[in-house]
Amino acid sequence: MASRLTSFVSNYLYEQRIRQDSLSVERLASTVAPLFQSVRSDALDELLMTSGGEMGGRLMVLDNDGKVQYDSFSALMGTRLQLPEVLAILTGGENTGYGIHHPSGEGEAVAYCAARLTGTGGTLGVLLYASTVTEMMNSLQGVERQLIMVFAAMALVAVVAAFLVSHVLTRPITAMTRTIDRMGQGDLSVRVPEQGSKEIWNLAKSYNTMAEQLETLDRSRNQFVSNASHELKTPMTTMKILLENVIYQPDMPAEVRNEFLQDMNHEIDRLTNIISDLLTLTRMDSKAMELNPSAFDFSQSCEDTLRLLRPQAEKRSQRLTGKIDPAITLVGDKVKLEQVIYNLVENAIKYTPDGGAITVSMGRRGSQAVLSVRDNGVGIPEDDQKHIFERFYRVDKARSRETGGTGLGLSIVRQLVTLHGGSIAVESKPGSGSTFTVKLPLRQAERAGKEG
Ligand SMILES: Nc1ncnc2c1ncn2[C@@H]1O[C@H](COP(=O)(O)OP(=O)(O)OP(=O)(O)O)[C@@H](O)[C@H]1O
Ligand SMILES: [Mg+2]
Repeated sequence: MASRLTSFVSNYLYEQRIRQDSLSVERLASTVAPLFQSVRSDALDELLMTSGGEMGGRLMVLDNDGKVQYDSFSALMGTRLQLPEVLAILTGGENTGYGIHHPSGEGEAVAYCAARLTGTGGTLGVLLYASTVTEMMNSLQGVERQLIMVFAAMALVAVVAAFLVSHVLTRPITAMTRTIDRMGQGDLSVRVPEQGSKEIWNLAKSYNTMAEQLETLDRSRNQFVSNASHELKTPMTTMKILLENVIYQPDMPAEVRNEFLQDMNHEIDRLTNIISDLLTLTRMDSKAMELNPSAFDFSQSCEDTLRLLRPQAEKRSQRLTGKIDPAITLVGDKVKLEQVIYNLVENAIKYTPDGGAITVSMGRRGSQAVLSVRDNGVGIPEDDQKHIFERFYRVDKARSRETGGTGLGLSIVRQLVTLHGGSIAVESKPGSGSTFTVKLPLRQAERAGKEG
């Protein structure tokens, strides 16, 4: 490419020079011809000298044999010049000839420009112009050298730029690939560096968000498994102790033995409850939970559930009041929505001291059915409020142990409400009570019905 360009440039300069020289020599030839024919030697000498001086070279007139008749440098008079440019005119029939010669080897260059001298009777000879073109050749070589240098510099810049660009582009991708590989091997804590161009940066950010969610999921799954094992182990331990007492004390009084057996029976009930709760949750997780949707009277369900729980409240002398708007019809899974009410009211009873008050209200607000369960019990500290819907989360572990809670009730409630397209919120102040509010969209429930 570089050499193509330099040869293009040099050809251009070269041709320019030829055209210039040929034009001057041809023009001069038409003036020289009549002088040469009429042998006006003085005038011819004069003309050659001045023109040669102006053009900056040597002018010669050669006869038809190629012998020098006039020479502005006077040195070659009478010599025969066998130059190809001259022969081209005298024997080859050309009108002009041009060529560059290197008479004394490297460096020096002489350009010959020949033009036919035409007289009245035909060709008279040749006007030959010789000029040193060493300078032109040198400058051409200089141009060539400079061009090559420019090209070399450009090539270098291009190579460096290509390297930098590919480095900048591929480095973040390589880093990302490495990180993804490590994640694939099970290390979920690694993150991709957020760097590089905007697109790559976005990709890295999305990837990290995904990794974050995966890690959270993994962590909560692990926690779930360990919590579940723990919850299942406790009643097992209790039962084993009770059982061992019965086995190794054969002379134990009948009523004590009976009490132990009743305790074991109670533990088995607890275990069964936990296991059925866990099954409910996993079924909901795997989306295998089947809703049996139907249009039903939600108000009626609420009344029924309250009646079911009333004995528990009465046992603790609590006032359980229902403020239920009649005939609120929902489309949804009746049994599961009744479980929502049950779990919330059961909690209210459990976490309210003897003699407290629990109010369950239900009404229609716009396109939503709103259920709220309020108590004036122990309340939930602000920091715990955002966690109580998590599996196995209990505010006061010791207290809940007494009351037999596992911390699964509210997470089941939230799942069920979400499945029906609704939402749940809690408002609470430690010491003065809690209010749980469930909103179930009436239309959304219809849609859930169709999907189910
Ligand atoms: N009405 C309430 N007043 C005060 N604290 C509450 C109330 N409802 C729930 N909590 C707190 O939230 C925790 C989680 O409740 P959740 O119903 O999920 O579990 P649980 O009642 O302990 O066990 P279970 O699985 O038997 O329902 C409870 O342990 C309790 O600390
Ligand atoms: Mg509960």
